[in-house]
Amino acid sequence: MPTLLHIDSSADLTTSRTRALTAVFAETWTSRGADHTVVYRDLHRDQLPHLQSVAQHWPPRLRGGVEVPASAAALQQELLSELLAADVVVIGAPLYNYSMPSTLKAWVDHIHVPGITSPFDEATQPLAGRPAVVISARGASYDAGSPSESWDHGSAALKIVLGESLGMEVTVVATSRTLADVVPALGSEAAAREFEAAREQVRELASTL
Ligand SMILES: Cc1cc2nc3c(=O)[nH]c(=O)nc-3n(C[C@H](O)[C@H](O)[C@H](O)COP(=O)(O)O)c2cc1C
Repeated sequence: MPTLLHIDSSADLTTSRTRALTAVFAETWTSRGADHTVVYRDLHRDQLPHLQSVAQHWPPRLRGGVEVPASAAALQQELLSELLAADVVVIGAPLYNYSMPSTLKAWVDHIHVPGITSPFDEATQPLAGRPAVVISARGASYDAGSPSESWDHGSAALKIVLGESLGMEVTVVATSRTLADVVPALGSEAAAREFEAAREQVRELASTL
C-alpha cells in the first residue's frame, strides 16, 4: 500500500500556490488506485513547537545523558515514524525571507536526527532512494542567469537535508513571480506560464513516482 506524506506549510489558506500544487500532487497520486493512501500534515494550521532541547538532534544513545521531556520525545517519534513510513514525500515550501517558513524548519529540526535518519557512526539512511518532491513558490523572479538565481535558500536547504543527509531522491519544482498581481513589473503572463509548467511537472511526478 504506497503511502504519500503530504506536507503544507504556507500561511496563506486561500491563494497559496504551494497548497494548490501539493493538492494536485495528492489528487494525481490517489487517482492511481485505492491502495495509494495519503497522510496529511499541515504545519501552519497545526504548528510544531521549536526543539525543547539540543539533545533532540541525537538519538538517546548519543545524548550524553541529557534527558528529553517525554512529551517532546513522543512528538518527535510521531514525526519520525510518519516520515519513515512514507514511500513518497511532497512538501509545499513557500519562500519566506529567502528561506523556508519557520513552521517547516521546525519539522526539519525534528526529523533530521544523525544516527536515526542520517549517517553518524554508521551509514544509517533508512530513507535512501525514496522520492521527495519539494514544491517552492517564490514571490519575485529567480531566472537562470539573473543575480537572484541562487537566492532561494529554502528549497536549497531542503535539497541538502533530504538529499545529502537523508539520501532521498529530491526533485524541486519551482514557480516564481507569484506576486505579479501586486507587482506588475514581474509579469503576470510569465508568472502564469511558470505556474502551468509547475503544475504539469507535478502531475507527471505524481503519476510516475
Ligand atoms: C513572510 C513572507 C516572506 C516572504 N519573503 C519572500 C522572499 O524572501 N522572496 C520572495 O521572492 N518572496 C517572498 N515572499 C512571497 C512568497 O514567496 C510568495 O507569496 C509565495 O507565493 C508564497 O507561497 P504560497 O503561494 O504557497 O503561499 C514572502 C511572503 C511572506 C508571507
